[in-house]
Amino acid sequence: MKNPLPAIGQRDFVRIGIMPNESVARLVESHAMNKLFGRYQVILAPMAGVSDIAFRTVCREQGADLAFTEMVSAKGLSYANDKTRHLLDLAEGEDTVGVQLFGHEPDTMAREAAWIEDAMGDALAYLDINMGCPARKIVSKGDGSALMKDPELAAEIVSQVKEAVSCHVTAKFRRGWSQGDETAVEFAKRLEQAGADALTVHGRFAEQLYRGASDRSVITRVKNAVSIPVVGNGDVKCGEDAAAMMRETGCDAVMIARAAEGNPWIFAQAKAALEGKPEPEPPTALQRLSMARRHADLLSKREGRNIVRMRKHAMWYVSGLPGASKARGLFNYCTTFEDFDKVFSQLEEICDAS
Ligand SMILES: Cc1cc2nc3c(=O)[nH]c(=O)nc-3n(C[C@H](O)[C@H](O)[C@H](O)COP(=O)(O)O)c2cc1C
Repeated sequence: MKNPLPAIGQRDFVRIGIMPNESVARLVESHAMNKLFGRYQVILAPMAGVSDIAFRTVCREQGADLAFTEMVSAKGLSYANDKTRHLLDLAEGEDTVGVQLFGHEPDTMAREAAWIEDAMGDALAYLDINMGCPARKIVSKGDGSALMKDPELAAEIVSQVKEAVSCHVTAKFRRGWSQGDETAVEFAKRLEQAGADALTVHGRFAEQLYRGASDRSVITRVKNAVSIPVVGNGDVKCGEDAAAMMRETGCDAVMIARAAEGNPWIFAQAKAALEGKPEPEPPTALQRLSMARRHADLLSKREGRNIVRMRKHAMWYVSGLPGASKARGLFNYCTTFEDFDKVFSQLEEICDAS
């Protein structure tokens, strides 16, 4: 039987005077965000120079619920730079994608966020703002994790971007800027106040770059301090790490970066662990080589003949296989799909024989 009562919407709460308009809006939005992360449990992190169309495709095929583009420069978009715009192209069959914007000028960020939303329509899962990248060429301009040193500016960016778009807006940041000075909790609260719909926390200080271990407990502290969803990130290296991250921190989703390099199977493993199922067997040498070939093929369909950016992926795929060290030397001379294919075939012969 059909429910005779109509669903109660945001306006009804306001009409009967239960809550001020703003609180209702937040409630409805946070419900939508919780639903979003119910769907996106395991996410491929934004990785500059890595998370392109080909890499996103193989990660989604292996179970990533959502994949992020490489970070996109708000300034680059504002100059209508083709190279920057191409970062937003979708892979064949890619229904949704996460987009990460970097910059530090609230008005530019807001304008370009609106442009992205307009250009991508329903394909945009949500928009993230980079407040965690520690690379010198980024922070020297006041972008990325430099924003952790200026929480007011960071909050202003969130607030203006939120005003400019109707999609969900999140921020990704670190434990703090200076090693030992944890500011993540205060920073998170400030961004929540500014209107952020969710937050992603990587448990390292910016000064650590990628050194040392990522601290999971900061994710717990942030999660306990805010009422919006929190995505946990840092050092998830296997399925069980993803499950432990969720269990120990109470985070709403897990984001994986480096462990996916040459290993898109990590997503199937993470999903199985989160569902309490046995993890799938790790790929055989031949499966790894076959995935590497497919990745190179996807890349050449996208980039044309020159696929030098496959070199690093190829090295990741073959790491630890018999003949890998010789292959690494050969990859440095590979430019086209045919070049890579030849080396993969040689490795297949070595693996078959061993
Ligand atoms: C090559 C590379 C590129 C990255 N690019 C970005 C980026 O564009 N935006 C961002 O927020 N983080 C970037 N990161 C950081 C990752 O998203 C992630 O926060 C970090 O690597 C920790 O997660 P992991 O331990 O799973 O690797 C990058 C990391 C690597 C290794």
